[in-house]
Amino acid sequence: MAIILGIESSCDDTSAAVIKDGILLSNIIANQSVHEFYGGVIPELASRAHQQNIIPVVSMAIKKAEIEKNEISAIAFTRGPGLMGSLLVGVSFAKGFAKALNIPMVEVNHLQGHILAHFVDEKDKKNPHPEFPFLCLLVSGGHTQLVVVNDYLNFEIIGKTVDDAAGEAFDKCAKVMGLPYPGGPVVDRLAKEGNPDAFAFAHPVVGGLDYSFSGLKTSFLYFLRDRIAENPDFIEKNRADLCASLQNSIIRILLKNLIKASEQTKIKEIAISGGVSANSGLRSAVADEGKRRGWNVYLPQLKFTTDNAAMIAITGYFKYLNSQTCGYDVSPMARM
Ligand code: KG4
Ligand code: ZN
Repeated sequence: MAIILGIESSCDDTSAAVIKDGILLSNIIANQSVHEFYGGVIPELASRAHQQNIIPVVSMAIKKAEIEKNEISAIAFTRGPGLMGSLLVGVSFAKGFAKALNIPMVEVNHLQGHILAHFVDEKDKKNPHPEFPFLCLLVSGGHTQLVVVNDYLNFEIIGKTVDDAAGEAFDKCAKVMGLPYPGGPVVDRLAKEGNPDAFAFAHPVVGGLDYSFSGLKTSFLYFLRDRIAENPDFIEKNRADLCASLQNSIIRILLKNLIKASEQTKIKEIAISGGVSANSGLRSAVADEGKRRGWNVYLPQLKFTTDNAAMIAITGYFKYLNSQTCGYDVSPMARM
């Protein structure tokens, strides 16, 4: 039997989760509303909020899991990538707690966590697990990657963004439209009322399976600048169409290389992960494409798309079973 406590503090969510033999017993997430006011994550404020949240969040995760802390087998924590100040809080807490309980620590790569979120099962719900090897489109606020997953702990990145991540494209364009942070979920909601073909924006040209979103962002910005010069109320009058068209552009860009990657690798087990995998348009576009191409498509439950510690605990669980623990002298890595 293995009970893993997972801790996630890479960006602006403080989260702790308990997994027992692969089954999720608790997953507590404290969001930080302080950043909304600034329209983006302020690292200094994020680390302070983690510092305030970490003990209550971990206590609640242990309580909700109905376990005693001395039953925990190991502590899995996000080592990176992420904001250094934020990571330091989680890593330092994990060290102190692991040392006090005299149990091993397991370092987890946040991105690996997003991908392995597909393997979290719940007491009353067994989620469909992709079969190896599968192809995962990992789309978050900081990363956009195409990954061949050969095994729980064997990954191969075959494509990645050369500039902005897909989530960044959503958030930055939303900010230009005066929408609150994070913009992704707001654009998703407004897009439902709009016409996805109302406006066309630049699609980038990059080689191989790589992505680029900075051209789209610039094209969106210049398009708005020109329209606002003609009509100062342009954004207000066209908000839903702008959101639908922007979302459609991002989805088309993401799908193009996903299709190419599936053709090149001949892999038809297709998963999506990360915060942007919560996007309703992307989810239905991947599902529709899957029907056309005979893919088995895996869409994570919404609660496992954005940052959470369940994904860190499950990754820690697989690493623990594989004896991949680390020393108490471990330090966070902003870039991994
Ligand atoms: O995975 P995540 O929580 O954090 C990182 O590791 O970056 O992803 C956050 C990103 C943000 O850019 C946010 O706008 C985006 O995920 N996001 C969405 C949606 N929900 C979250 N983007 C589009 N549609 C959504 N429904
Ligand atoms: Zn993330």
